[in-house]
Amino acid sequence: MKIQTARAVKGEIAPPGDKSISHRAAMFAAMAEGTTRIENFATSADCASTVSCLRVLGIEIEGSGLAFQVSGLGKSGFKSPKTALDCGNSGTTMRLMSGILAGQDFESILTGDESLRSRPMKRVIDPLEKMGARFSHQEFRAPLTIAGVNPLKPIEYDLPVASAQIKSAVLLAGLNADGTTSVIEHAQTRDHTERMLEWFGVETNKVPTGDVGTKISVSGDSVLKARDITVPGDISSAAFFAVAAVCLHESNLMLQNIGLNTSRAGVVDILQDLGADVEIIDRREMCNEPVGDLRVRGRRDLGEISELTVLKGAVIPNIIDEIPILAVLGTQLGGGLEIRDAAELRVKESDRIAAVVKNLKMMGAEVEEFPDGLRVNSSQLRGAVVDSYGDHRIAMAFAVAGLLASGETEIIGADAVDVSFPGFFGVLEGAVVR
Ligand code: S3P
Repeated sequence: MKIQTARAVKGEIAPPGDKSISHRAAMFAAMAEGTTRIENFATSADCASTVSCLRVLGIEIEGSGLAFQVSGLGKSGFKSPKTALDCGNSGTTMRLMSGILAGQDFESILTGDESLRSRPMKRVIDPLEKMGARFSHQEFRAPLTIAGVNPLKPIEYDLPVASAQIKSAVLLAGLNADGTTSVIEHAQTRDHTERMLEWFGVETNKVPTGDVGTKISVSGDSVLKARDITVPGDISSAAFFAVAAVCLHESNLMLQNIGLNTSRAGVVDILQDLGADVEIIDRREMCNEPVGDLRVRGRRDLGEISELTVLKGAVIPNIIDEIPILAVLGTQLGGGLEIRDAAELRVKESDRIAAVVKNLKMMGAEVEEFPDGLRVNSSQLRGAVVDSYGDHRIAMAFAVAGLLASGETEIIGADAVDVSFPGFFGVLEGAVVR
């Protein structure tokens, strides 16, 4: 894909349904009693992987595109699969399905593409084995064979990594345990699982523990009841357009129907703290999730910000998927940007720290790599050949970098965008003013 310099982005954009929420909608609907209709389901390849795994597990799912109807079989009603479950590129599918399958009375195999087969799974295997499930694996990597047990043993699990996927896997297994299962998190990670379980009639008990921790509990007696869902737009997809609009002075963009859950909306706070013109309009609720529209204009001169902006600590889990695009934003800040405490980025769909650093260097940016982050100085980007490293968010972040750069930028492996945002380049082209 080739990208040329732009002057502005304009118009109205409704990004696809939220990927994290869509995975959960399909899975929880499958675990519910009754039929759930899901609207504005994410068009992403990742969420299609979840739907196809559920179908292999005997769940009837009608529909395609944006609307699906899922006939739930109850939380332990899945059918023994005849083939391996292919999670494609999707870590969320593999880790959350591990939690569900740990509590089913049969054996199943979870596999995925080369990237997913290289990602760490010990983080879910450890707690789920404590609950009584048995896993076979190669060095804690997929393919994973799971021997499920019902009921599982309830546990109290202190999360060693700030990860919503691990938290969710344990809570989902807890729904099939003999008692109350708790997870303690020390930094807030996205809470879509808790919110959606409540939407389906399951009580999730949250109490503060220690200095900053929260203990979240579910009872093994819980029953999920089918309830229709409309999925909010994905803030992680909106973020690419928001950053483009903030950086290109004549921009005026309306991003419609965006999920604004505080455990995800760190990017909006950061842009507002920098003085960027980002306005939230018509805050509302959609299926237990906060939603609003974002009006983004490019009026703030980011070059005037002379201090170094530092992002670290508790905010990191709230912006974990937005760090590649925030690093691109960093090149436009007068004082540059430093990101720390983000070593998790090294085990995402690609090593996102290495990928961002290499691509930014190719485009002439002054950038330093740390084990847990990077620092980028204010830099005039120039067009170059960059690589997505097979990672959707790297492809989209560098498409935006291409708009800001002089000359032409070429992205190798740009079709990775399909993992979360099929049609991304068409939407971008429709918004760009040259
Ligand atoms: C996700 C959680 C995050 C995030 C991923 C989606 C989820 O991963 O990076 O894109 O839907 O729960 P971790 O839980 O590994 O931090």
